[in-house]
Amino acid sequence: MIEIRGLAKDFQRAGESTVHALRTIDLTVERGEFFVLLGPSGSGKTTLLRCVAGLAVPDRGEIVLDGVTVYSREKRVLVPPERRGLGMVFQSYAIWPHMTIFENVALPLAQKRPRLGKAEIRERVSQALSLVGLEGMERRPTPLLSGGQQQRVALARSLATEPVLLLMDEPLSNLDARLREEVRKEIRNLAARLDITILYVTHDQMEAMELADRIAVMHEGDILQQGSPEDLYRKPADPRVAQFFGSTNWIDGRMRDKDAVETAVGCLAVTDSGERTAGEAVVVAVRPEDVELTPHGQEEAARENRFPGRVVSNVFLGDHRVYTVEVGEHPLLVRTLASVLLGGDVGVRIPREKVCVFRARSRDELPSADGS
Ligand SMILES: Nc1ncnc2c1ncn2[C@@H]1O[C@H](COP(=O)(O)OP(=O)(O)O)[C@@H](O)[C@H]1O
Ligand SMILES: [Mg+2]
Repeated sequence: MIEIRGLAKDFQRAGESTVHALRTIDLTVERGEFFVLLGPSGSGKTTLLRCVAGLAVPDRGEIVLDGVTVYSREKRVLVPPERRGLGMVFQSYAIWPHMTIFENVALPLAQKRPRLGKAEIRERVSQALSLVGLEGMERRPTPLLSGGQQQRVALARSLATEPVLLLMDEPLSNLDARLREEVRKEIRNLAARLDITILYVTHDQMEAMELADRIAVMHEGDILQQGSPEDLYRKPADPRVAQFFGSTNWIDGRMRDKDAVETAVGCLAVTDSGERTAGEAVVVAVRPEDVELTPHGQEEAARENRFPGRVVSNVFLGDHRVYTVEVGEHPLLVRTLASVLLGGDVGVRIPREKVCVFRARSRDELPSADGS
């Protein structure tokens, strides 16, 4: 449905260095897929979406939508936005305050060529409104609507033209947390019901995981990794991806052989060390929920990846707890349902298949701990 090949775009800013907003992007989105572009602010998400929409002109590469080349530097093709057959929803709803809901939603329909009849327009508006749960509200003035309702009107307006492709740029970020969750569910249900392909931009990892069939993680104009939410969480190909998806314990180490890493915690057996070779400095990542606590004493058996630890702090979070457990001098976060004694000795087990191994240098490339 969307094929993007070698897409690049720079911005020149007066008196400053060139910004590589998109470096060399390759991306394929299948028909009917809910595809999310996820990344921190400034990573190039909006620029990529605007290039697909035709609102920004790339410097190089190619974009094919539904089999039609809409941009190609080489073939000198540039199809204008209104002829790309797509709908768009942005962070700011761009709802006209002097118009009713009906007039706002009908706006893009009135511009359609060949012209639509009045009855057809009325029918399409009413269908679009019922899709977003605003049926029968055609005559309401828009200034009285809540943020959530305004975003629904914007959504209805983009759906009324019956696009095969819908582009959404952080559509929920102006809503408060509760509404955000509600509208998020609606968007997901809508996507499941309609035969539509969605390219959706967000910086919110939870939002991406809840909505996406597949996610591309962006960073400084590059795509670090693409895959299902589970792939990205379980098998991050890059430490920045691991960092982006929830919390992680980072432990420095050195490869002993291809199946084991010497670390401050002890010698860790690993299942997949990638291309790493004996003697190489590495950093390993272990999710807090993958660290297991066992009764003190069982670790003496010197079985694989079992270490003695001491519980130094405990945070109660309702449906789970997060402990800090010191193994040697190294603090590990452990997420568990169990309750253990603060200050007590415990056994710690790190299942080998849950350990991710990265090149040591790559850890310096991580964003700072506050996520910025
Ligand atoms: N019109 C523009 N002029 C100059 N720089 C821009 C412009 N649009 C975006 N940029 C720069 O390009 C980079 C990517 O921006 P953007 O695509 O908006 O990122 P995101 O949507 O992920 O926050 C940023 O460094 C941003 O400052
Ligand atoms: Mg943006």
